[in-house]
Amino acid sequence: GDRRHHSKQRFFVVDLSQALFDFVIQLLPTAEEMTVKEDVRKLLERLIRTIEPDSRLLSFGSTANGFSLRNSDMDLCCLIDSEERLSASDLVTMLGDLLERETKFHVKPLPHARIPIVKLSLDPSPGLPLGIACDIGFENRLALENTRLLMCYAMIDPTRVRTLVLFLKVWSKRRKINSPYQGTLSSYGYVLLVIYFLIHVKNPPVLPNLQQMPPLRPISQEDTHMGDYNTWFFDDIELLRQRWQSSNTDSVAELLVDFFRYYSRDFSYNNGVASIRAGLLKKDSKGWQNDLSNGRYNDARERNRFCVEDPFETDFNVARCVTKEGLYKIRGEFMRASRILALRPRAIVALSQLCEE
Ligand code: GTP
Ligand code: MG
Repeated sequence: GDRRHHSKQRFFVVDLSQALFDFVIQLLPTAEEMTVKEDVRKLLERLIRTIEPDSRLLSFGSTANGFSLRNSDMDLCCLIDSEERLSASDLVTMLGDLLERETKFHVKPLPHARIPIVKLSLDPSPGLPLGIACDIGFENRLALENTRLLMCYAMIDPTRVRTLVLFLKVWSKRRKINSPYQGTLSSYGYVLLVIYFLIHVKNPPVLPNLQQMPPLRPISQEDTHMGDYNTWFFDDIELLRQRWQSSNTDSVAELLVDFFRYYSRDFSYNNGVASIRAGLLKKDSKGWQNDLSNGRYNDARERNRFCVEDPFETDFNVARCVTKEGLYKIRGEFMRASRILALRPRAIVALSQLCEE
């Protein structure tokens, strides 16, 4: 009776955890891919310096935060250290022309976008069977900082955090719910959902809240802020590991089951805001309410169906692109995943069903 049920549950969890590790490992980028990407970054940096000698080209997003899958895009950010510099849109135009002349990349400058960027891509070749896609933006210092924050969270508990995040990224891509342009959530949004769950939902927590830990020594306003945003967080992960140990011993499989259950059943989509900085907040208190009765809020309502607060840009809803239909689809997928796992199939079967395209 009870004992048999218990040991069946144990088997399911151990089996599924192992299968998740194995599944994720084969999707990691190869050493060769990482080298090629770093070479591309250096080449582009060299070219940009012919226009702006005092510039640096830095990697952010998944190539820099520890959550990268094979063939993921490259996100690059150009920082210019001199006082006098061209506007982002002029730079985008000039850089676009230069790269068109000097490289084999397909180049698409978007100088008038809300955030001006140059889009690049390289066709597949024998050494690079899937090609490369890359965006270059300018002065996006907040993105560099949130990349560093996510990287620190990945480093605290690499096995559980990275396995969960990478699995959910694959799952959300295969189930077609990872596309802000089509009304669903970005990868960045899913990573924030996982971290929020590990800090604020799991009890005891799997991760500490790096933004709320006391600093080791007093720091000035200047050192903690970028414009109006407080970007401070505890980033001495070596020290943190000596001083903080999670007392949560759940396996990756248990965390995944709980993650799907939480977001299919418990998270309050109507009134809640998931904030890794501050825990569960209310839409009301942020002015993100989706008040159906008032026509004036029509726009805001569409933008705030699903609310995930950016860790630093706290007035920015990372899930703003999620539409009514998109949210319905995402929640449907959380429920589907919960249903599949509740039947406790063999791990291999579970993973292939979960990620069925
Ligand atoms: P893949 O490209 O799918 O591998 O995932 P990724 O981790 O690179 O995530 P994504 O491409 O969604 O975002 C890349 C980076 O851009 C993130 O790590 C953030 O630094 C930044 N970013 C993306 N979306 C937003 C957003 O809505 N707000 C802010 N502030 N930054 C964002
Ligand atoms: Mg990316």
